[in-house]
Amino acid sequence: MDIYGQFGPRLHDVLTRLTDQIEQLSHQEVAAGRPKLYEHLIGRVKTPASMAEKCQRKGFAVSTHAALRDCQDAVGVRIVCNFIDDVYRSLKLLRQASWCQIVEEKDYITNAKPNGYRSYHVILKFETPFADVDGATPGYYYAEIQLRTIAMDSWASLEHEMKYKHNVKDAARISRELKSVAEQLAACDIQMQTIRQLIQES
Ligand code: GTP
Ligand code: MG
Repeated sequence: MDIYGQFGPRLHDVLTRLTDQIEQLSHQEVAAGRPKLYEHLIGRVKTPASMAEKCQRKGFAVSTHAALRDCQDAVGVRIVCNFIDDVYRSLKLLRQASWCQIVEEKDYITNAKPNGYRSYHVILKFETPFADVDGATPGYYYAEIQLRTIAMDSWASLEHEMKYKHNVKDAARISRELKSVAEQLAACDIQMQTIRQLIQES
């Protein structure tokens, strides 16, 4: 048995329910004559190995309870939006949604990480028909939602890809260049938003 124990298969069901709910939010926007919420949506269940590593790194027990309660990102969804406005519209709808509760927010868009990383992270808590790790049915689960634009997403995936290339000759230069790219992409996002607004007003 891995760190998720009997809950492993359940986490995939929880992820499916969550992505269905978020897809619904976008469908409702389109039905009301507004643009779709996001360009694409991806979800994943953190692998048991990386969850076990995270529990250790954070000083938690390497247990199913810690994996599902002390850590709140066993289930994760990334909402990749066309425009910055869509990130905030998605957030507003998540805040209003009756099926979930936002228990934590990290705004790395207003406050980008020092390396240039931008994204808005929220932790959701929501009820499911399944039993949870505290023995309750219906049970509660947590999930981490990352909201970002296509530009922020492309930067994050390239940076993630390169993070694991060790023994680089000039690490400081690479960090500087990456940060500069992040800032140029952030400027592009603002420019794109302005273009959208001009089109909407005309
Ligand atoms: P972990 O979940 O253990 O990473 O710790 P945390 O919850 O304190 O971190 P945080 O919420 O800041 O980030 C969680 C996730 O955001 C990571 O697993 C990544 O998917 C993403 N992320 C955060 N910082 C970076 C970054 O600098 N670069 C990239 N590419 N992704 C990042
Ligand atoms: Mg996290």
